[in-house]
Amino acid sequence: MNLIATAPIFQLNIYKYSVTNWEEKKPKLLQLLDFSSDDVLQSEVQSDFFTGKGNPDYFDDWINILKDDFNDIFNQGHVIAPLPVNSVHGREHLLCTPKEQQWQLWSQSYNEGQYHSVHNHGIGFISCCLYVEFDKTVHKATKFYSPFLDPMTGFSQESIPEVDEGDILLFPSTLLHEATINTSNVKRTVMAFNIPLK
Ligand SMILES: [Fe+2]
Repeated sequence: MNLIATAPIFQLNIYKYSVTNWEEKKPKLLQLLDFSSDDVLQSEVQSDFFTGKGNPDYFDDWINILKDDFNDIFNQGHVIAPLPVNSVHGREHLLCTPKEQQWQLWSQSYNEGQYHSVHNHGIGFISCCLYVEFDKTVHKATKFYSPFLDPMTGFSQESIPEVDEGDILLFPSTLLHEATINTSNVKRTVMAFNIPLK
């Protein structure tokens, strides 16, 4: 008997981009943030997710700082979730620009002992995480959980990608993930955003 082929039949991709001219953009991005408001969740994590309604007032400044990077992504015609070869129902998805549909943006900062437990970002988006203050010698990137168990062992499958400060991870918004506890005394800050799909 001859082995004919071994092939993965399910696939899940995440994407990693690197912001250009990071050293110039980092202080500009950090200047946008203010976690001093009473509305800011302070216990598990400092987050402006709950302040006000809709996007934070720094959205336009934020996108202006990163416009070249986002243009790169759109100019490359980035296709999220390309149509699987054997798909009968699926279709490819493309990212909406902020003009086509409103993006969702929030920022989170983790001091020593802070974390964000397992969650997902709902359906219909590519979710993104920009690592604004990230020291890879003491911090870990986002931990992802497979949507299905290891079929052979039944164990949950986890993955923590390698990232550097200034990287952006893109992942399907339904994918479970968490920010594990910051065990260091070095602050870890991320900007999270959801890009609607079309
Ligand atoms: Fe998240």
